[in-house]
Amino acid sequence: MTNSSLSATAADCRALVLFGATGDLAKRMLWPSLYALDRDGLLPVKFQLVGAATSALSNEAFIDKVKQAIQTSANAKLFDEEAFTKFAARIRYVSVNVQVAGGLEPIRGSLVPAAESDGGIIYYLSTGPQLFGPICLALRDAGLVDAASRIIIEKPIGTDTASAKRVNEAIAAAFEEHQVFRIDHYLGKEAVQNLLALRFANAIFEPLWNANAIEQVQITVAETVGVDGRWPFYDSTGALRDMVQSHLLQLLCLVAMEPPASFTPSAVRNEKVKVLWSLRPITGNEVEANTVRGQYTAGHSGGEAAKGYLNETGAADASETETFVALRVEIDNWRWAGVPFYLRTGKRLQRRSSEIVIQFKPAPHNIFSGIGASLAPNILLIKLQPDEMITLSLMHKKPGLNETKLAQVPLNLSVGDAFAQGRRRIAYERMLLDVLRNNSALFVRRDEVEAAWSWIDGIIDGWKTTGQQAKPYPAGSWGPSAAIALTEKHGHSWHE
Ligand code: BG6
Repeated sequence: MTNSSLSATAADCRALVLFGATGDLAKRMLWPSLYALDRDGLLPVKFQLVGAATSALSNEAFIDKVKQAIQTSANAKLFDEEAFTKFAARIRYVSVNVQVAGGLEPIRGSLVPAAESDGGIIYYLSTGPQLFGPICLALRDAGLVDAASRIIIEKPIGTDTASAKRVNEAIAAAFEEHQVFRIDHYLGKEAVQNLLALRFANAIFEPLWNANAIEQVQITVAETVGVDGRWPFYDSTGALRDMVQSHLLQLLCLVAMEPPASFTPSAVRNEKVKVLWSLRPITGNEVEANTVRGQYTAGHSGGEAAKGYLNETGAADASETETFVALRVEIDNWRWAGVPFYLRTGKRLQRRSSEIVIQFKPAPHNIFSGIGASLAPNILLIKLQPDEMITLSLMHKKPGLNETKLAQVPLNLSVGDAFAQGRRRIAYERMLLDVLRNNSALFVRRDEVEAAWSWIDGIIDGWKTTGQQAKPYPAGSWGPSAAIALTEKHGHSWHE
């Protein structure tokens, strides 16, 4: 099936070189996404795919790995031999070593020599972040970067402002900012993009989208998984750096940003970065009142017994790293002054659930109080996963002849129902296609990354200076009870 309105033009790019081609992300998301794009006729005709990693592997053995990855992925149902054979013909595997001079030469050897009009090469760094700088510089020194090249960088970019700046400097030494695509896969999720459509393609929400009408906003990204085999990486990272610095702050930006003048990369990203600059710093003693850290202990998650964080494979005996964080955030600008944004994310929570909750102010006066009816506030709920759904809760009269009974009823605004025929795509499919189309509106610009880190640094410093500990919470719960208190002391409660 060819979808010409989506397809990238052949002249844009001639190849994608994927560093970290045998890694976990490549297996779970990137190869299955590239396969799906190819199957749908969305890759340029002569487009080459070069898998680069350190292991010595034959092309056949590598293609076999790619096949298995697709067959066990979220796109497994799309697999068919004929489409895969065509896809596999695009793939070359090369073993590279960025640490040695000439270590990237196999890449050059694997690429079909370009004619003038064939377009540039996309490099995708799905590697450990310590390699981002070295790979960019090695690509430049090997003469593999030109004005038509693009580079995709996975998170995390740095671990604080200073290290993020160093990584960004190394990228900038090889690529112009307009060639750089910093990926935050949450921005590729359909429901997240739908939030933009909801806000900026409908006139009815804008007059209400501010502190006059909105009581509070909640952003939750709850996972049931633990840290699995990632203990050493995760332990040096923690939930604040792993999830809040990127995904949750990006979601917050989309909720809070001013309407951009157009849907162009500069216009969208200019508005997002202004939100990050307006976040009220949470530093020093403020961290105690506005942040909660947690770490899971043994319990039950997803119907199974789950180990505690300190008993996971590869764990050290002691660790203060948080696997859960809840924050009360304020945005110091005209639109949002006084509206709390509660953010929370954690591993081994009760349910996998990512959602944005916009709770409106209560009705100013309840004319039904005389007949005992209480009014619940209107809530706009944007669910990102596991299901994508948008509902607006309104008070309704229950049908019947007797006294007036009221109930809160969610009005379903779901995309799923309106466009039921569309398959649900992996977020990376959309992101990869955007790179092919050279559209960076949904990618994170350098100043956004650094602004987000500078706000996160304040919290981390505050935790250090106040000695704030991660509170234990049993796997399968909603985090430490202090997270509930964080909202309740302000008269709010988490949306369950
Ligand atoms: C990644 C984090 O960026 O996002 C992981 O590093 C996390 O720790 C993952 O599990 C969650 O992504 P998703 O799309 O499954 O919600």
